Amino acid sequence: MDSKTLREKYLQFFKERNHVIIPSASIFPENDPTVLFTTAGMHPLQVYFTGEPHPSGKRITNSQKCIRTRDIDEVGDPTHLTFFEMLGNWSLGDYFKEEAISMSWEFLTSPDWLGIDPDRLSVTVFEGDKDAPRDEESAAIWRKMGIPDDRIYFLPREDNWWGPAGSTGPCGPDTEMFFDTGKNPCSKTCRPGCHCGKYFEIWNDVFMSYNKLADGSFGKLAQHNVDTGMGIERTIAVLNGATTIHEIDTIQPINDRIKRFAKIMTEPTEEQRKSINIIADHIRSATFILGDDKNVSPSNLGQGYVLRRFIRGIIRQGNLLNIKQRFLPTLAEIVMSLYSDIYLELERNKNFIMNNLTQEENKFSTTLKRGLKRLGKILDETGTLTGQDAFLLFTSFGFPLEMTLEIAKEKNITIDTQAFQEEFAHHKDLSRKATSGTFKSGLSDHTEKTTRLHTATHLLQQALRDVLGNHVEQKGSNITPERTRFDFTHSEKLSPSEIEKVEQLVNKKIKEGLAVTSEILTPKEAKASGALGFFEDKYQTKVSVYSVGNFSKEICTGPHVKNTKEIGTFTIQKQKNIGTGLMRIRAKIEP
Ligand code: SER
Repeated sequence: MDSKTLREKYLQFFKERNHVIIPSASIFPENDPTVLFTTAGMHPLQVYFTGEPHPSGKRITNSQKCIRTRDIDEVGDPTHLTFFEMLGNWSLGDYFKEEAISMSWEFLTSPDWLGIDPDRLSVTVFEGDKDAPRDEESAAIWRKMGIPDDRIYFLPREDNWWGPAGSTGPCGPDTEMFFDTGKNPCSKTCRPGCHCGKYFEIWNDVFMSYNKLADGSFGKLAQHNVDTGMGIERTIAVLNGATTIHEIDTIQPINDRIKRFAKIMTEPTEEQRKSINIIADHIRSATFILGDDKNVSPSNLGQGYVLRRFIRGIIRQGNLLNIKQRFLPTLAEIVMSLYSDIYLELERNKNFIMNNLTQEENKFSTTLKRGLKRLGKILDETGTLTGQDAFLLFTSFGFPLEMTLEIAKEKNITIDTQAFQEEFAHHKDLSRKATSGTFKSGLSDHTEKTTRLHTATHLLQQALRDVLGNHVEQKGSNITPERTRFDFTHSEKLSPSEIEKVEQLVNKKIKEGLAVTSEILTPKEAKASGALGFFEDKYQTKVSVYSVGNFSKEICTGPHVKNTKEIGTFTIQKQKNIGTGLMRIRAKIEP
């Protein structure tokens, strides 16, 4: 089976069971300031687990593009990827364990769907602890489906609890489904979850009914939700009996092209294989990051820094493979050809992808060799590396910190990573900011102040459009109780009089006491109504549109104040040019 068939079957199965197919959300979390990337299908849906109604209803399904960088150092081995697609079905206060498990079972085993031999499936359930009881209910449902007791494993929280995606929020016990490859167990304790290669997890049903609070305790959510996740790449590999994830249909064509670039005609060596795998993984991630409508470019901060790490990592691995010519755009084209019909934004952002890859490749290819030479010299002379060395490599040759560490590791140079990082950070606050995942986007919380600033941000966007022109479009926002930070398309700093006009217009609209209302529309209707926002044309799903009087109209998930009078006085504090054609404004409100 290929990825496309699996994706289609999955969505069709759930559509037939009254789920609405929604498009993948952005790869950058809108409403979770604690992580850089969307890490699971449930991530963009978290707000709906707590009661906010989803415009598409209570049963939804989709295929979500995800990036997980936690295991980035493992990429290159047979199982790890940073970019993957996650299929999921959700109950937002609708069905719970019984229906979720029986639908999973039917999809996996029915000959009409995946038709997996039931004898090859094992499941795990939560064994219980002081915060939540043992999940006998799920175990009983599995027994009813026909799974014998010796293939139902009760495991602890590390294995069978999912979430929250950030530090607080919806979470719950899960039940995971494993495919048995038929290999002999590696030991007496070999069981689902063991990494020897006998068992592969293919699906996870999470019963989201808990809420992790800031003090670490677990409250109950007002409604029962189900969040499930099936990684397409892994499932395809397992179903096809592939020995590594890199053999699947959405990766193999990239590998083949890399081999041609590297003129590898025979079976690659283990080292070559690793480089090929890393390049294929990273080009997928880089293409999807650049191909998102947020238009994030390589930079030294947050998501842009991770993107830079991916791209520069590819270039270094290409150098190890002796690839002489520029090769990134060609690989990105392959990624696009594999996915453009599913993720339409890739085609929309094609120029952005190509221009950024070309620029970054040109920039780094010229300094890589000189930097490697310098690094070799430092290692020869001193036998070690200091944070200061890494800082020099970073500033003069553009080596991301992690790349320098990686090279040292390959050369068997042991360094005290923590002391090294501290020293590096001492030279510049960059590494900490860039790597700790603190880049923020969206709303930091749903407090009254943040909510007021959120509505003010809608007013700001419309005021900017009125004053500067309709080329102004939101490219990101980050709102905390203290301030809003708004990124938008515009190519130069605003003049003092433009700033004044924008401020005055926002404050005028606040004083007018405009009502904030919301309605649920199809994207087509939303677009026709003049709402601003991101339009996805693949699926006929529904969106919430928030209007502020007749002044502003945007697609948005809320929350907002009821009337602009609640906002207070709006002041622009700062503006900054943050990239080609991109400006950032920081503003606050006072009572
Ligand atoms: N959130 C769960 C996971 O990522 C199920 O979707 O595995």
